[in-house]
Amino acid sequence: MKRISIFVSGNGTNLQRIAEYFANDPEVEIANVVCNNPKAYSIERAHNLGLPLRMVTKKEFNEEAFTQEMIALNPDLIVLAGFLLHLPDCLIKAFPKRIINIHPALLPKYGGKGFYGEHVHQAVVAAKEPVSGITIHYVNEIYDSGEIIFQAQCRLDKDETPDTLAAKIHQLEQTHFPVIIEKVLKAK
Ligand code: GAR
Repeated sequence: MKRISIFVSGNGTNLQRIAEYFANDPEVEIANVVCNNPKAYSIERAHNLGLPLRMVTKKEFNEEAFTQEMIALNPDLIVLAGFLLHLPDCLIKAFPKRIINIHPALLPKYGGKGFYGEHVHQAVVAAKEPVSGITIHYVNEIYDSGEIIFQAQCRLDKDETPDTLAAKIHQLEQTHFPVIIEKVLKAK
């Protein structure tokens, strides 16, 4: 049995998709969902999916005790699915090559501090990029710069808006993220 912990901050469409994808897989279990945002719709989703939910404040998240709690939980993989807090070094060091993130652009472009969610799509559209996409990567100490596991692209239309691009990106995420998580897990 492989166990994953999913960290979220927002709507949770990726959380929902990942949970549904693995719902009938006897080899994969979602050990818990960690959420830092008390207003996140992810909370309701976790509840409806029957998943254990651990709410954290930013302060608590950065303390060694939280990392110790994660070490005790011992998931095979931590999945950042729209998680917007920077990870403390102690957590990253405790889970080498065991934390992956999804980013809504083709890293190394449009990554780093401030580039999350709709801000990424606004910047990509403003720059009139011909393509964008998703990047799934391991997490290291430097924001959005860990080893890339997978990328998928989509074209931008002439009249593309941040909203229409967001829809294309979400579609790519829904298609690929669970499959890549499964591959990473089964290679462990
Ligand atoms: C996703 O598009 C994900 O790629 C992005 O946040 C969104 C979360 O959506 N992540 C980042 O921007 C990380 N820098 P969701 O809450 O509906 O899964």
